[in-house]
Amino acid sequence: MDIPLFHLDWLNNRMLIALIATIHALINHSLAVGFVPLVVWLENKGVINSGSHEVTDLKWDKMVYRMMWTAFIITTTIGAMTGVGIWFSVSLVSPNSIASLIRVFYFAWFVEWTVFVTEVVLIMIYFLTWKKANSSIKAKTRHIKFGWYLSLFSWITMAIIVSILGFMMDPGNWLKEKSLLNGFDNPLYLPQLLYRTPLAMVLGGCFGLFLSAIFTKKGEPNRLIVFRSISKWILLWLPFAIAGAIYYYHFIPTANLANLSVAIGTQSFQDWYDVMWKVILGASSIILITAMIGIWKPKLLHASLITITLILALGFMGLFERVREFIRKPYIISGYMYSNLLREQDYPLYKRDGVLKWATYTSTPKVTEKNKVEAGRNVFMLTCSRCHTTQGVNSIVSVFERMYSSKGKPFNRESMETYINNLHSAREFMPPFPGNQAEVKALVSYIKEIQFTNEVLDGAQQEGIVVNPGQSIESFKKINKR
Ligand code: HEC
Repeated sequence: MDIPLFHLDWLNNRMLIALIATIHALINHSLAVGFVPLVVWLENKGVINSGSHEVTDLKWDKMVYRMMWTAFIITTTIGAMTGVGIWFSVSLVSPNSIASLIRVFYFAWFVEWTVFVTEVVLIMIYFLTWKKANSSIKAKTRHIKFGWYLSLFSWITMAIIVSILGFMMDPGNWLKEKSLLNGFDNPLYLPQLLYRTPLAMVLGGCFGLFLSAIFTKKGEPNRLIVFRSISKWILLWLPFAIAGAIYYYHFIPTANLANLSVAIGTQSFQDWYDVMWKVILGASSIILITAMIGIWKPKLLHASLITITLILALGFMGLFERVREFIRKPYIISGYMYSNLLREQDYPLYKRDGVLKWATYTSTPKVTEKNKVEAGRNVFMLTCSRCHTTQGVNSIVSVFERMYSSKGKPFNRESMETYINNLHSAREFMPPFPGNQAEVKALVSYIKEIQFTNEVLDGAQQEGIVVNPGQSIESFKKINKR
């Protein structure tokens, strides 16, 4: 409402965040949180298994170093850039929600920043001093210690961020008393952390198997030993990940769970739901089978099976993130702010006066007979554009055409008005329409118009801004004079 809205009409705004954030979470969990402790454990194994005349088994150590090299390159490039990318994309697409989260989690984020900087320093030390540390057993032991510190700090960054994700799904008693502690300690925090930690370890293991298949040759004795070690690691963590998933599932608020299954016939989500269970079952069984082969018959562990396991494990987590994001709807912060960035408590005001009147940036503060298409366009931007485009992914024309099975035929005005007035009861994942009846009519005029003109909606980044005359400095001066 009070920040100009960025809009991507082809890709869909949600998708921009989702793409960047999913890549980031996958890299963070599989490489930073899950893989680093595995590497340190393997490095330590090299020291234990070496003869008394040497610091470590040098061949083994070189292999583990190469694996760490890959993780180092990926986490410090794509991992770091997508981390910053999340900030950029959410500030553009969802400025009000990130502003709210920053207000609530200010100190948590400050701590997170210092932990993150420490993590970066530690990964530099750990990776860059690796070769030097092989000069003496004392240096090697210190090096391994740094590896454990790095693992701990990587885990802490995740442990802080997970609280914010849990908060968005269920802020718990923060809704009654708005303090950082109440926000941090939300009902989903621990369940999610207890699930994500072992999941990250399993993912790290799958990544480790993949890299060890690349960095060892067939027939090399180390190949079978490392396959076996990593498989043990996976088998150790897998039951905790499954138990964590079940535990977490029980804490998801029932309103959201309704979204998860049928949600009054959300056809597209119904598909996701079926796919989700198949992927969960399929991925866990394949990971289990791979780990068992790795332990008892490592010779049979083919590179293709390892690759499939890794892709399934990553796919599983990607799907989990998508589902978690979806079932929070219609809210972006449950019980507080809807996904259209409007606060629930402001709805009565918008219903009475309309959203346009209270928008800081709009060319049409009020709907008139003359401006109704333009006003409808502004209403669309304020109330639908965070989830719908006009001509791209999840386009508003296509969803109406699909619903009425009326491709190419003009929409019926009355039934559209009725539908928009019942948006939330028709589809629970959509917020109720916030504006007044004149705005519903204007919105319908706009959608009916673009059904045939194929006009594309530009965001503030292309259109520029118009300050609502009723919200301008001049108008406030006038009010103050009175
Ligand atoms: C929180 C995000 C969100 C907001 C805000 C939102 N929608 Fe939707 N809407 C969706 C999703 C997701 C779908 C389902 C798309 C699918 O099934 O492929 C959908 C589907 C629809 C459908 C088709 C429903 C059906 O039964 O097939 C219509 C019509 C619709 N939206 C209209 C609107 C209008 C008008 C607005 C603005 C006033 C709006 N939506 C705001 C997310 C949203």
